[in-house]
Parts: sequence; C-alpha cells; structure tokens
Amino acid sequence: MGLKYIADHIIDICENAVNSGSENAILNIQEEGDEFFSFSVQDFGKGISKEKLELVLDPFYTEKKKKIKFGLGLPLLKYATEQTGGNFTIKSEKGTGTKVSAIFITSNIDCQPIGNIPDALTIIFTMRENFYWQIQRTKNGESYEISTESVENILGKDFIFSPKKVKILTELINDMENSLGGDNGV
Ligand SMILES: Nc1ncnc2c1ncn2[C@@H]1O[C@H](COP(=O)(O)OP(=O)(O)O)[C@@H](O)[C@H]1O
Ligand SMILES: [Mg+2]
Repeated sequence: MGLKYIADHIIDICENAVNSGSENAILNIQEEGDEFFSFSVQDFGKGISKEKLELVLDPFYTEKKKKIKFGLGLPLLKYATEQTGGNFTIKSEKGTGTKVSAIFITSNIDCQPIGNIPDALTIIFTMRENFYWQIQRTKNGESYEISTESVENILGKDFIFSPKKVKILTELINDMENSLGGDNGV
C-alpha cells in the first residue's frame, strides 16, 4: 500500500471509522502555514480493546505459528508523524468509539507532501451510503464545514451513486477550499 501523501493517511483512517460500526464520524483537518498539518478522526463504533491496540500498532506482530495480520494504516501513520517531530495518538474504548489524532510538522524535510484534500474529502464522502460525516477544515485561521447531511440537502440522498453528482460535490469542495486564506494563488 502506498501512502505517499498525508491525504492518503486521512483516507485510510476514515476508512477505519466507516468500518467501525459507527453511523457517523467527525473529521477535523487543520493546517497552519508551513508550521503544521494535523487531522483527527472520531467515530462512535465498536472501539479497540487495550490488548488489540498494542497489536495493531506493531507492524511486525506475529503470534506463534499463526500470523495475526492487520493492515499497516495505523503504524504507518504513527511513523509518518513521528518522523517529522510531530505526534500520533489513538484513544479507543471498547463499545464507545475511537479517536485518532495526527500532527505533522510540515517544515521538517521528512514530512510527506499533503496531497489533494478536496479529492480526499470526496472519496471520504462517497465511501458508504448512510454514513454521516461532519468535516471541519481550517487553513491559516479560516475554516469551512461540510457534512453528509448538508451534501444530501443539495444533491439528494443517493448522491454517491451518481458520477455527475459526485463531480458537483468535488467542485463544491474545491470552491470552499479555494476560499480559504493563504496560498490559493489568485
Ligand atoms: N476506528 C476503529 N474502530 C474499530 N477498530 C479499528 C479502528 N481502526 C482500526 N481498527 C482495528 O485495527 C485494525 C488495524 O487498522 P489499520 O492499521 O488501519 O489496518 P487495516 O484497516 O488495513 O486493517 C483494523 O483491522 C481494525 O480491526
Ligand atoms: Mg485501515
């Protein structure tokens, strides 16, 4: 799996939330100049037990002959943040939910490129029908908010199945992204 961009990590962690059994989740993305880029994903799903959490954070975990294999999403994110002098935390409680937070120090030479945030948000909104996202994006002190509910109000409940509507969604997110302060280069 190639997690070349920070945006790929966001997609991966959001996928975990969509698969957690939760019906909704909160994604927060914050960026400040060339200082830091951070995001958090909170769901209200099945959570991860203490024991399992240790296993999923260890990319080399094996148990006797039977290899218990998890994906690499969480350990790769942990590594990617710490490589920049940033920070990774995961708080999870069985039956209550999970919150993953990541901070990248973007001035560090080892920081991955951010990638395309509007494209990532489109992917996240179209991962699963009837999954409700609340997304807040802040860049250089300016913010926008977009939720599955607000998208459904504009495009209808079935938008994820219509390529035309998904294209409109991407344009909408790009417009909001371009309205944020900083380097939108107009
Ligand atoms: N938000 C979450 N809620 C419940 N379980 C989770 C969550 N995130 C991760 N997990 C558990 O941790 C495992 C490892 O996650 P991850 O490192 O992203 O790899 P992958 O998703 O490819 O399995 C998942 O398979 C799942 O069992
Ligand atoms: Mg994953």
